Amino acid sequence: MIFAANFKTNHTRTSTKEYLATLESLAQNSSDEFYLFPPLSALQSHIGKITIGSQNAYPTKKGAFTGEIGLEQLKEFEIRTILIGHSERRVLLSESQDFIAKKFDFFKNNGFKIIYCIGEPLEIREEDELKVIEFLAEQFNGIDTSYENLIVAYEPIWAIGTGVSATNEQIASTHQAIKTICDKPLLYGGSVNAANIKDILKIPNVDGVLVGSASLDPQNFFSLTK
Ligand code: 13P
Repeated sequence: MIFAANFKTNHTRTSTKEYLATLESLAQNSSDEFYLFPPLSALQSHIGKITIGSQNAYPTKKGAFTGEIGLEQLKEFEIRTILIGHSERRVLLSESQDFIAKKFDFFKNNGFKIIYCIGEPLEIREEDELKVIEFLAEQFNGIDTSYENLIVAYEPIWAIGTGVSATNEQIASTHQAIKTICDKPLLYGGSVNAANIKDILKIPNVDGVLVGSASLDPQNFFSLTK
């Protein structure tokens, strides 16, 4: 199974180092796959069981993009993994599907492992399942779904940070539909925690999880794998 931790704007460089050391020792003999997305200021070279990825970057080697980082800055820390399309960037930072597709292409052409996030807002979920699938299908516009280094993460927006995960039935049917659009490892994200993880991992077509708040403590995050 794949376990990915998205710190968002939590943790510092110092606390991320401590976190990594703890998680490395806990995960040493695990057969699961681990990814950690710390804030940009905590990116660091790391060799071990846990792969560090960037929560974002601009599709450029370097240049005049105030407040952004590019390939050159990621290379300094041997970062070869990136999250693209997270709903917080789509919604809060108004990233368009066109721009997201450009970003995807750029990092694909540079051989990155891409965790590509999709997810619908509540008003779409409240319509019907067909509308949800149509909405999610549009989030694959311009995306090379056959890219070999691609992992998809389904994160319904209404389930992120709310404590209300999608139901097992919703995850099962949506994951099944997503796999027909893009047959790649598929993570579920959105209020994953110690209480629901066991059931979520049993659902067909769930290959792992992308975790926000329940990943912030390394013991807590690792306990999700047990
Ligand atoms: P929560 O686990 O805090 O709901 O966040 C999920 C998420 O957005 C991970 O990318």
